[in-house]
Amino acid sequence: MLNIGLLGLGTVGVGIVQILEERKDYLEKLIKKEINISKILVKDIEKIRDVEINRGKLTTDVHEIMEDNSIDVIIEVMGGLDKPYEYIKEALSRGKNVITANKAVVAKHLEELTDLARKNNKFFLYEASVGGGIPIIKPLQEQININEIQQIKGILNGTSNYILTKMVTDDLSFTEALEISQNLGYAEADPTDDIEGYDTRRKLRILSTIAFKDRINEDNISCYGINSISFKDIRNIKNMNCTIKLLGTAVLNHNRYYASVEPVILSQDSYLGKVDNAKNLVSFIGNMVGELRFFGEGAGRFPTANAVLSDLIDITTNTYPKVNLGMNVNLDNMNGLYKGKY
Ligand code: NDP
Ligand code: HSE
Repeated sequence: MLNIGLLGLGTVGVGIVQILEERKDYLEKLIKKEINISKILVKDIEKIRDVEINRGKLTTDVHEIMEDNSIDVIIEVMGGLDKPYEYIKEALSRGKNVITANKAVVAKHLEELTDLARKNNKFFLYEASVGGGIPIIKPLQEQININEIQQIKGILNGTSNYILTKMVTDDLSFTEALEISQNLGYAEADPTDDIEGYDTRRKLRILSTIAFKDRINEDNISCYGINSISFKDIRNIKNMNCTIKLLGTAVLNHNRYYASVEPVILSQDSYLGKVDNAKNLVSFIGNMVGELRFFGEGAGRFPTANAVLSDLIDITTNTYPKVNLGMNVNLDNMNGLYKGKY
């Protein structure tokens, strides 16, 4: 039996429960084990949920989950920073595998949690933390074994992309578009993180740290959001047959990084200009493979739950690629043949 402790039953948590129910037979055959969500941590047990759930599984006491030795995997989809960090650390220290969708925690504690997982011979996986339903962390980790990654670029926040799309194509106001994206479950509990670019910056910090095999801190990434873009700006941009997107870009050039988050005016016909609504697109350039682009739903219940569950399958089938993250390779000492050539 594979016993899961689920922390959070909101937008993403409900998606996880529903997919596991719908795909139960198939997944159990695949991993050759019964799958059981043993307990679910919530804030309010009485709340009406979007999914039918056995109330006996709900708890507000995290210890019930952590101290249950039959639970093998913790899935953290509760959001926030300090509590989930504490719970993830405890779970790994107690020998449980951990999957999270929480970019805030991953961005702040990536190296520490990766090391802790390694020391305990467990997995700490976070595919859903970047790009919603798009597989990007795993493909990037697969490529760094062969390539030197020279650039990462993308639209990494569904909410801000949704807002900008609706402002440009449907003449909605910023506030109207934000409200819809909140109702659709794309926005963070505090949407400031989405619209001021912090969420994109966290995702860029995670991707660039993996890609450049060095610690890239959020503080080293310049960050401008979309909150000061006015109707007048939008009108002028449309008059030029252009659109505007919040881009995260990280470049490695001659052993130096440059990383930024900022709104950029793009031709409506460009590939990034055509990424609409809550879709995300991430591209990276490797010195051997060239440019790879990944496109899909960057937020939302089922795409995100899908990413979480692909981590679960990798854990249970032991198919996750071996990576060197956490070694903090000093780029000055790397003798990449093609380093800096572009
Ligand atoms: P929600 O706010 O919809 O759900 C959060 C859930 O966690 C709720 O069930 C809530 O309980 C529970 N919870 C929150 N804080 C506590 C606490 N202190 N103790 C116990 N339970 C708690 O969040 P989402 O599902 O949207 O997001 C979850 C995580 O996934 C976040 O880290 C987010 O950044 C990330 N993510 C979200 C995506 C999306 O599209 N929504 C996409 C990619 C990542 P209760 O229901 O009782 O209030
Ligand atoms: N709030 C985030 C977004 C969720 O809009 O992209 C997905 O990480």
